[in-house]
Amino acid sequence: MIRSADFDPTFIEEIMAEPGGEHLLTCWSCGTCSATCLVRRFDSAFNPRRVLHKAGLGLREVVLSSAEVWQCSACDACYPRCPKQIHISDVMKAIRQIAIREGYERPGVVAEVDESTCIACGLCVAACPYNAISLETVECEGGQKLAARVDSNLCMACGICNSVCLGSCIGVPGYLDEAINESIARGEQADPVMPRIVAITCNWCLHAGKDWEYAQHPPEGVKVVSVPCSGRVTPTFVTTALQAGVDGVLVVGCQEDQCHYKHGNALERGRAAMLQNLLELLGIERERAQFAWLGSLDRGKFPALVNKMVQDVQALGPLSWGK
Ligand code: FES
Repeated sequence: MIRSADFDPTFIEEIMAEPGGEHLLTCWSCGTCSATCLVRRFDSAFNPRRVLHKAGLGLREVVLSSAEVWQCSACDACYPRCPKQIHISDVMKAIRQIAIREGYERPGVVAEVDESTCIACGLCVAACPYNAISLETVECEGGQKLAARVDSNLCMACGICNSVCLGSCIGVPGYLDEAINESIARGEQADPVMPRIVAITCNWCLHAGKDWEYAQHPPEGVKVVSVPCSGRVTPTFVTTALQAGVDGVLVVGCQEDQCHYKHGNALERGRAAMLQNLLELLGIERERAQFAWLGSLDRGKFPALVNKMVQDVQALGPLSWGK
């Protein structure tokens, strides 16, 4: 229930004073943003139109305490469709700045830096889709050095920084190289004749019930490893898996214009071509590493993709590399 005491007109002014927040009252509340929102396609509880509407009413506590302002992944899919050309992700960012000032914290994790190993190469700074990383002088081991620093207000925990880092010095807890490689590692399987497949998939591609169920209980020989975005997948994950006795690796990401982290899937597309060429050079069939892209209308198609991969690898036979 909302009481009249909950309306705080100073909240509106505060948001509009923040960079990016100035367009708050330009919003018509038409709902085009919600209709095109990629996050909402997977989580119907998230509604950007409603967040802006509540903010425009001055519902300070309701907005600042809600998880929704942190859910916008700033993919900006809504921007080209908005009839008022509002950068909704900027308004969300403005609200988050106020939330942080008032002591609210982003739910979940963000990327962390190991300053002792960071060599300040700047690759993560260039790759971050959100400009959330900068190089700063830090105190480290009794001296000063330049190292990456993550702005927790801007970081969306996609892990793309980790995928370009030369030394695994930055990454999102739970999705660090070590953790993913551990998930990829295969134990013995009951049926040694079945091909061994690892499917590494972007979390967003598993939101449909059928896909999620399948990922939790894959058939014999298949292992599913989920990552925040296909842009988190490095060629090393694939080659390590193949060297460890896996017969084929399938990488699944969002369709071309539907990555939740702006350009994560574009990055992975580039790596896909490079990796398949590399496998060929090593005398390994390029079909042993396959890449597939699922759109929001492709819910429930993950099992079929994996089954096709199983058949393709079955036709190739077992891989002897590293065995
Ligand atoms: Fe799915 Fe980036 S979020 S590929």
